[in-house]
Amino acid sequence: MSGPRADVDALVAAARAARERAYAPYSNFLVGAAVTDDGEIFGAPNIENASYPMSVCAERNAVAVAVAAGHRRIRAVAVVGSGEAPTPPCGGCRQVLYEFGGPGLTVICESPSGERRTWALEDLLPAAFGPHDLPA
Ligand code: THU
Repeated sequence: MSGPRADVDALVAAARAARERAYAPYSNFLVGAAVTDDGEIFGAPNIENASYPMSVCAERNAVAVAVAAGHRRIRAVAVVGSGEAPTPPCGGCRQVLYEFGGPGLTVICESPSGERRTWALEDLLPAAFGPHDLPA
């Protein structure tokens, strides 16, 4: 089966699978994220550190995996966190997602129990600072 709905379900499933590999012994808040441009999916979990501020969110790790594989455009990101409600990307991750996805990036967040919310990134990060704000 293919189509937009199947695409989204596959992306969320990849985020859920990435969450299984979360390294979050300090917060115990497991998160998985998955990004895609053209169907190829790149997933990663959050990875914490004993030096707490060195911890990295799942979204930024997923972006790093995609970019390291040569994919610099991101059309959609899925996030599966650990709260009762869907976990939205933190402010810092919104900025990093904007770099590679721009205002139209689709952000799909699902709770462990399956509650899903979807936004366009421009609604989560209005009037964003981006590459266009730097001199050419
Ligand atoms: N975290 C993410 O990975 N993504 C989010 O969208 C929110 C927060 C991580 C950071 C930290 O490892 C843990 O969740 C608790 O904040």
